[in-house]
Amino acid sequence: AGPCDLYSSGGTPCIAAHSTTRALYSAFSGSLYQVKRGSDNTTTTIAPLSAGGVANAAAQDSFCASTTCLITIIYDQSGNGNHLTQAPPGGFSGPESNGYDNLASAVGAPVTLNGQKAYGVFISPGTGYRNNAAVGTATGDAAEGMYAVLDGTHYNGACCFDYGNAETSSHDTGNGHMEAIYFGDSTSWGTGAGSGPWIMADLENGLFSGLSAANNAADLSISSRFVTAVVKGEANQWAIRGANAASGSLSTYYSGARPSVSGYNPMSKEGAIILGIGGDNSVGAQGTFYEGVMTSGYPSDATENSVQANIVAAKYATTSLTSGTALTVGSSISLRATTACCTTRYLAHTGTTVNTQVVTSSSATTLQQQASWTVRTGLGNSACFSFESTDTPGSYIRHYNFVLLVNANDGTEQFYEDATFCPQAGLNGQGSSFRSWNYPTRYFRHYANVGYAASNGGVHVFDAATSFNDDVSWVISTGFA
Ligand code: AHR
Ligand code: AHR
Ligand code: AHR
Repeated sequence: AGPCDLYSSGGTPCIAAHSTTRALYSAFSGSLYQVKRGSDNTTTTIAPLSAGGVANAAAQDSFCASTTCLITIIYDQSGNGNHLTQAPPGGFSGPESNGYDNLASAVGAPVTLNGQKAYGVFISPGTGYRNNAAVGTATGDAAEGMYAVLDGTHYNGACCFDYGNAETSSHDTGNGHMEAIYFGDSTSWGTGAGSGPWIMADLENGLFSGLSAANNAADLSISSRFVTAVVKGEANQWAIRGANAASGSLSTYYSGARPSVSGYNPMSKEGAIILGIGGDNSVGAQGTFYEGVMTSGYPSDATENSVQANIVAAKYATTSLTSGTALTVGSSISLRATTACCTTRYLAHTGTTVNTQVVTSSSATTLQQQASWTVRTGLGNSACFSFESTDTPGSYIRHYNFVLLVNANDGTEQFYEDATFCPQAGLNGQGSSFRSWNYPTRYFRHYANVGYAASNGGVHVFDAATSFNDDVSWVISTGFA
C-alpha cells in the first residue's frame, strides 16, 4: 500500500498527493512531475518505474543530459487535479519575470529510495509552487490532515518554508486563513525547544508550535537528514507530530485546543495549496520537499503511524551530489574557461572581484596565485566543496546577489552555504560545471570576463542563455601556485 491507500483505509482520503520521488498510491502509474530543459525549453513528464514505485530518475537524467532542467509541475496523484505550478506574485513578488517565483532545479536534491535514485524539490529562497484553485481541500473550520517528508538539514529562519493550505488570493487575508506545515528555525513567531529547526503550523500571521503564540517546549528541535512532518486540524483541535523519516515512529509535539489569539478559532481556511513559500508569497525560506499529501477529515494517530511506517519502508537515503572529475580536498587547482573566446583564461580574482584572466606558467607569481584555488570540504555541505583563495587564506569564492566574490569566511551559516559548490560533468562536455549548493539552478559562470553564479536564462544579464553551457564549463588542472 502507499500512504494514500492507508489514509483511505482510515476514512480520511488524500485530496492532494505530491511527490517527485515515488507514487503515493500502490496503483498509481501516472505522471509524478514535469521538467523543462534549458537547451530547447521543451518539457517531459516523469512517471514511476512501475505502478506504486519510485520515480524514473534515469528518464530525467537522459532528457536533461548536457543541459539544465527545472521542475515545472508537481502533479497531484489524487485524481483531483491539484497540481502545483510556479507560484504567482501575491503580497510579495518572486524574483522571476512578472513577479513569479523561481522554479526548482531538477537536480538539487538527489536521493535514493530502496537504492533507486530519485530527485526531491530543492527550494532556494525565491522558489515556490502553488495552486490557488485546488478542489476538495478543507475550507473554513473543516477538518484536514497533512504530512510532508523533508530534508532536516536544509532550512533557514526566513518566512516561510510551508506545505499545505493557504489563501486563494496569495495575499494575507488574516489570522486563521492558513493551515500549513512549516519547517525551519524562524523565531519571528512561535518557537520550540532548543535552537530548531522545528515543525510548526503556519496558521497565518503566526507560526504556531502549540497553544501559545510563543514557545512550546514540547515541540522538539528535529534535524535528522529526513524528517516526517505532520500537521492536522479540526474544530477546536489540532496537532503537530514529527519523526525521523528513515527510522522510528512519530512523536506528538502538540495536540489540543486552537490558540486563543483572535481569529484562529474557528479557522477560516481558504483551500489553496502552497509549497516553499508563505501564504502571501513570502519567498525568503529554503528547504527540500520529497513527498506530501493533504487529506479530507482529521486522520487518526494510528493512520499516521502506519503512514510513517510506510515512509520508513521506502528507505530514503543520501546519494552523491557530484559527478565528473574527482576533486581532492587540500589540492591546488586551476579552472580554465572553455568558451571559444576565452580558452586561455582562468578563473581568478582581483581583490574581492572574481574574474577570468589570461595566465600561463610564465605569468608573474602574483597572477598565478590569483588563479589558483585550494579545494576544501564544502563549508555548507561536506558532500560538496569550497574553494579557498591561494593568496588570501581564509577567503573563499562565494556568491552574493549572485555575483561571485572572494570574501573572508565570517563563520555564518549564510557564508558557508554561499561558498559551497557541487561539481558535475561539464555541461558542454568539457571539464566540470560548479553548481551552487544553495541555489542549484546556478553555476560558476564567466560573463564579460567577470564571475557569477548564473542560471540558464534567468532575469539577470549574466543569466543569458546564449553561450551558457560553454561559460559554465571549466577544465580542472593542477594549480599554478
Ligand atoms: O504566518 C506566517 C506568515 O505571515 C504567512 O505565511 C504569511 O502569509 C504572512 O506573512
Ligand atoms: O547570491 C545570492 C544571495 O545574495 C546570497 O545567498 C546572500 O548571501 C545574498 O543576499
Ligand atoms: O566572459 C566572456 C563572454 O562574455 C562570455 O563567453 C559571454 O557569455 C559574455 O558575453
